[in-house]
Amino acid sequence: MTTAQQRTAEVVGDLINTVNERLVKHEVTYGEYQAAKQWLIELGEAGEWPLFLDVFFEHTVERMASERRRGSTGCIEGPYYVPGSPELDSPATLPRRPDEPGDGLVFSGTVRDLDGIPIPGAVVDIWHADANGFYSQFHPDPPKWNLRGTVRADAEGRFEIHTVLPAPYEIPKEGPTGRMITSAGWHHWRPAHLHMMVRAPGKQTLTSQLFFAGHEYVDDDVAGAVKPELTLELVRHDDGHYTAEYDFRLDPA
Ligand code: BEZ
Ligand code: FE
Repeated sequence: MTTAQQRTAEVVGDLINTVNERLVKHEVTYGEYQAAKQWLIELGEAGEWPLFLDVFFEHTVERMASERRRGSTGCIEGPYYVPGSPELDSPATLPRRPDEPGDGLVFSGTVRDLDGIPIPGAVVDIWHADANGFYSQFHPDPPKWNLRGTVRADAEGRFEIHTVLPAPYEIPKEGPTGRMITSAGWHHWRPAHLHMMVRAPGKQTLTSQLFFAGHEYVDDDVAGAVKPELTLELVRHDDGHYTAEYDFRLDPA
């Protein structure tokens, strides 16, 4: 047996045994088994495997991965990252519609190494939902690169990103994942959040999310991904726009 075969037999074997034990524990009937099988078929047909897995399991793998690093903690990537967003120099305004709904948000900070030394030219690849909770390229409304950008920090490692406050995100209720959540009587919401991948030469890429203190669902994320240290304090200014700050610390590669 190769090491890969051993690992597969161990992990997959354990998963299979665990599911079988739970089928016995809950005395699952043939009708329930057939319904679950049909639901899994529909999950695949709807292309919702990434959504389902990232809602219910990514947070566990991510927490273990974050424990192996010393820099800023990470967060789940989720299913809505698209590589290759427009490259922008800081201070940058993310691509948006002329009538983009929502309150203005200026998100700024510095990218540093583990000694606190700023990393010039680090890149903050950021994406988030709009004020209706929709992600560009996963909803027909927003244009292709709406609220997505690859922002290059300045010579002091500082970035300043002008965007709008996202709304909470709702798992689509009409798809298999949403229908399953409804059937269980759970809610479908993730709190409003910003996504980012922070990159710099010689450093590990950090995938993270930032949330907003006191906002709806921040204590009850359907994807179980919120960490207290990833919660930003929003400052509201007289003209109605908000600012928020966060410094990233990257581990060596
Ligand atoms: C999100 O970050 O938007 C997300 C994460 C997991 C599942 C669905 C959405
Ligand atoms: Fe998201």
